[in-house]
Order: sequence, then C-alpha cells, then structure tokens
Amino acid sequence: MPDSSPFVSIEGVSFAYPTLTGALGRQILSGVELTVRRGQLVALMGGSGSGKTTVLRLLGGQVRPQAGTVRVDGRNVHEQDRKGLYELRRRMGMLFQFGALFTDMSVFDNVAFPLREHTSLPESAIRDLVLMKLDAVGLRGAHALMPSEISGGMSRRVALARAIALDPALVMYDEPFAGLDPISLGITAQLIRRLNDALGAASIIVTHDVHESLAIVDYVYFLAEGRIVAHGTPDEIRASEAPYVRQFIGGSPDGPVRFHYPAPDYAADLGLGR
Ligand SMILES: Nc1ncnc2c1ncn2[C@@H]1O[C@H](COP(=O)(O)OP(=O)(O)O)[C@@H](O)[C@H]1O
Ligand SMILES: [Mg+2]
Repeated sequence: MPDSSPFVSIEGVSFAYPTLTGALGRQILSGVELTVRRGQLVALMGGSGSGKTTVLRLLGGQVRPQAGTVRVDGRNVHEQDRKGLYELRRRMGMLFQFGALFTDMSVFDNVAFPLREHTSLPESAIRDLVLMKLDAVGLRGAHALMPSEISGGMSRRVALARAIALDPALVMYDEPFAGLDPISLGITAQLIRRLNDALGAASIIVTHDVHESLAIVDYVYFLAEGRIVAHGTPDEIRASEAPYVRQFIGGSPDGPVRFHYPAPDYAADLGLGR
C-alpha cells in the first residue's frame, strides 16, 4: 500500500545567512511550507536569488533554519547527530547547480564515485551498478570516455546517473536545465521524470524553466520574497490568475517581482534634489 505521508516536509521555516560579524543577514525565507511525497516530482520555482538553492541546503542539513522544522522520512534533519545526518544524506541524491563532472575521471569513474565513497561493494558489483545507471540515461556505450570527449547534454546525463547511483529516496536537482540546448533540455526533463518513477523517489527540481517543468512535474511551488506565493498542480498553475504566476509564466519584466532592485529616489541619488 502506498505511504501517503509526506517524505519531505518543511514547516514554518525561516532562514537568514549569518554574516561575518555573527549577526544574521537579510531574511531569505520567512515561514516556508512545502511537502513532497514518495513518487512525487515537485518543482520549486522562483527568480534568481529567491532562495531555491537555500531550501535544498536546508534539506541536506548544510544550513540550519532559525525557525520551523525540516523533516525527511519523518526525521528532523536538524536534530540529527553526525551519524544520523550522514545516514540521511546517503539517501539523498543531488545534482548540484553548475554541477560539473570530475574532469580527470572517466564517465564510468564519475558514476562509480559515490558508490566507492559510500559503500564497500566489490568492484564487480560496482561495475554492474554503474553500467546499469549509465544504461538508464542512455550512455552505457560512453562509459570509457572522458568528460572532455562528450557534449554538454551528455555530461548532464552522466551527472544525473551519478546523482542516482545510490538509489536515493530523495533526489534534488538544482537547475538541471541550465545551459542546455532545447533538445538536450527536453531529453533531460523526460529523463528526470523517468528516473523518478523508476526509483519511486521523492524528487525536487529547482528551476526557472516554467514550460519544461510544467510538462513533467506533479506539483509546483513558487518562491518569492521568502515565501511560497503560489502552489498547485501544473494545470492549476497554468490556469492561475495569481500575479506572481502570471508574471513568471509570461516572463514580463514588471509585476509583483520588481525589475529594479530597491533604490533611493533616482533624482536624489544623482544629487539633483527634486
Ligand atoms: N553562503 C551564503 N552566505 C550569504 N548569503 C548567501 C549565501 N548563499 C546564498 N546567499 C544569498 O541568499 C539569497 C538566496 O540564494 P539562493 O538560495 O542561492 O537563491 P536561488 O537558488 O533561488 O538563486 C541570495 O540573495 C544570495 O545572495
Ligand atoms: Mg540557486
């Protein structure tokens, strides 16, 4: 019977990065709520600097919220001891923003890396697993190549294979489409959907690529000014009248998300008075 309780739950989370003086900086997140169930592929969208990567860092336990709770598989990420956090992280797969391959390692060794780091499997088992993961992304035949010998789109697929090498229960993709041509982008999107379904994982895809994401995800959250300003299924989002959503989908420069960074009055700034 499928378990319908959320695999990931973020409740009332507020966060600011500490500054060099030890004081807290600008508020990045204020009362964020988000859940992801097993088997669900969820998009977290928002403009650059809206805090999307920060949400993933909170889930990985790299940073700690000042308020609220972050749970993964029922466990509070920020109440884990070292061992507990290590075990949780081992079950998380991550495709990092701008995540590149290790350029001095073959495609095979890139995918084998997490298996060698986190397991004591014999090399024959590692070989089978690596070839299986590469096959899942259509690149088994490229296992002996070096990253410099494959295209950007192929590199991204190798990075996907590496992210899922340990069969993670939670997979986080940070801007997986960045810098890809339209064809590679479509292939990567379909692949993320297929990998999610094959793993039965809870997946979060952080992106500002609205149209490609709406085609593959089950649910969408919009982050702006530290809050979830809209959420819904792709159909609900497409039909949404919410100004943030309209601005995001339409790509219009003005709307609730300002084009201008807050600035003093222009004339005053130029010393012209009024
Ligand atoms: N390590 C850090 N220390 C201080 N500020 C940071 C750090 N990382 C990110 N920020 C700031 O936090 C905000 C949100 O960043 P981020 O989560 O990376 O946004 P996004 O992924 O949506 O582009 C940005 O204003 C960024 O400058
Ligand atoms: Mg980011």
